[in-house]
Amino acid sequence: MANAAEFVPLSRSLKALDEAVQTCRGCELYKDATQAVFGSGRKKAELMLVGEQPGDKEDLAGEPFVGPAGRLLDRALEEAGIDRGEAYVTNAVKHFKWKPQGKRRLHQTPRAGEIEACKPWLAAEIEAIKPQALLAMGATATRSLFGSKFKVLKDRGRQIDSPLAPVAAVTIHPSAILRLREHDEREAEFAAFVADLEGVASALRGAVR
Ligand code: URA
Ligand code: SF4
Repeated sequence: MANAAEFVPLSRSLKALDEAVQTCRGCELYKDATQAVFGSGRKKAELMLVGEQPGDKEDLAGEPFVGPAGRLLDRALEEAGIDRGEAYVTNAVKHFKWKPQGKRRLHQTPRAGEIEACKPWLAAEIEAIKPQALLAMGATATRSLFGSKFKVLKDRGRQIDSPLAPVAAVTIHPSAILRLREHDEREAEFAAFVADLEGVASALRGAVR
């Protein structure tokens, strides 16, 4: 099956990768998206956060996590004492997958084949950043980074043994918190998300000491 590998340049400059991803035809998802959305943040970031794929707002802006899920993430990072500007934030899949629903573009979960096809971009970002800590947010990022035997609910809150980074972990996706309709449940999940972020931040302090 096709994948992104032939479109990924040898360079590990974030700028070169960001330019090249716009030409990617590694799967069908480029066809309905406005643009590819590459990761954003510091090349020297110690912490790398990985989401699923750009949403409606990200697809238009060309930046990851700038819509509602991004605002929730910003709030959680702040509570956990993590400076987003010091981190690197990206997605497992670089093009927005959606279907029309009236005037809206409704998010569609990427298939396993699309996650697989896009992996070379995520691998290139990891090679460029060499993060000390890697956090997968949600099922798509978890599958892409750590494989299908890891599951968010089973594996959150503990460290994962991964060749990709000294500290590796999984947590739920911020959008999953936004989807909760019940106020108390949403607050509890937000607090659990912040606790997962704090866990990674504290493991990171241990790792870089
Ligand atoms: N959800 C994601 O997984 N990534 C984004 O960039 C925005 C929403
Ligand atoms: Fe390439 Fe990933 Fe976009 Fe598919 S989703 S076209 S693999 S950048």
